[in-house]
Amino acid sequence: MPTRDQVHNFAAGPSPLPTTCLEEASLGLLNYEDTGMGICELSHRGKEFKAVIEGAEADLRTLLGVPKNYTILFSQGGGTGQFSAVVLNLLAAHRLSHPVPAEQFQPPVLDYVLTGSWSSKAYAEAQRLCTPPFPNCPGFGQPRIAASTKSTSWTRLPTREEYKFSQDAAYVYYCENETINGIEFPPKQEDEGAFPFDLVPEGVEVVADYSSSFISRPIPNFSRHAIIYAGAQKNLGPSGVTVLIVRNDLLVDTTEASKLGCIPPVPITYEYKILADNGSLYNTPPTFPIYVSALVLKHLIKNKGGLEGLEKTNKEKAELLYNTLEDAEKKGKARLVVREKNARSWMNVTFNIEGEGEEKKFLEGAEKRGFRQLKGHRSVGGIRASIYNAVTMESVQLLCEYINEFCK
Ligand SMILES: Cc1ncc(COP(=O)(O)O)c(C=O)c1O
Repeated sequence: MPTRDQVHNFAAGPSPLPTTCLEEASLGLLNYEDTGMGICELSHRGKEFKAVIEGAEADLRTLLGVPKNYTILFSQGGGTGQFSAVVLNLLAAHRLSHPVPAEQFQPPVLDYVLTGSWSSKAYAEAQRLCTPPFPNCPGFGQPRIAASTKSTSWTRLPTREEYKFSQDAAYVYYCENETINGIEFPPKQEDEGAFPFDLVPEGVEVVADYSSSFISRPIPNFSRHAIIYAGAQKNLGPSGVTVLIVRNDLLVDTTEASKLGCIPPVPITYEYKILADNGSLYNTPPTFPIYVSALVLKHLIKNKGGLEGLEKTNKEKAELLYNTLEDAEKKGKARLVVREKNARSWMNVTFNIEGEGEEKKFLEGAEKRGFRQLKGHRSVGGIRASIYNAVTMESVQLLCEYINEFCK
């Protein structure tokens, strides 16, 4: 039976969390700050939990440098919940800014950039929600693909020439890091493949799914975004809470929008304004995941050098692992899935081991050495090493040693 420190957990999510935070959380689960009650047994409206959620919000604001004109919300329903919530909230905001009579209403275009499985799922949900509910209804919006790399099996990012943004879209949607395929937009605007914010027409909102790269490094062009969201279960905390960062002018009353006609109101727990007006406490929030996330945020600020420190370490970890795999590739032993260097994710490193039966052998050997959850996503197979914030440099070094040994 291995102990926690004998195991190197490369899970894609839920993923490892810092041990010290889990130790503190286990104490808080039994007796939170000498109240004689565990954190999960305290009212979400009491002063103790209020301090937790407000602390988490303040620390996240500090860590990411979230500007004042954005509200941070804690929601439920995961990243998948936001595939739907984004569509409905932004259609409502768009409708309020286009208050034409119902008979003149034209469903706005919604531009999706497809770079892997998660952005494709978000697009499919937009299509589902926007389908006209009855004959002669124009529908609520018109999702369309602004760029896609599906034809290359998601092994690269679109080139600048491939982006075809609509002039009058309600928003442009992209997924910053595709967890399954291991594709991420490079961090600097001048990097080849960087998300082309400059090509998005002025006035068109930008939405980003940051679920698997949240707080791993700074968010480029933060203030060009309308909404940034992330499920917690990779870099931040346990599953069950989703963080939303919404520009204040998009916190709109969706019931008012629906009264203009041609658009539905948003289910109440998904309306950003309702969440914001109630400090993320409209209904009972996931108190334990928020509590653990709050502990993780404090730990990252205090012990990991904040976002700068995280960026430095994450870059070093990714470089080491990719360099090792490139060497293995030269020896004909491995093959990296993402062919363009600039598009390779710092968080999810995807590769195959070459040769009949070799992948199975690699995974068996890995398991014996304490490396866990390295199997690629069930939809694509292969190997995926997820190296989120809580995966240490030491774990990555040991994995690299094993890869070198295996490839000899
Ligand atoms: C990038 C990305 N977006 C969305 C999701 C969906 O998140 P959830 O499972 O929390 O609904 C995931 C899940 O892993 C993801 O990696």
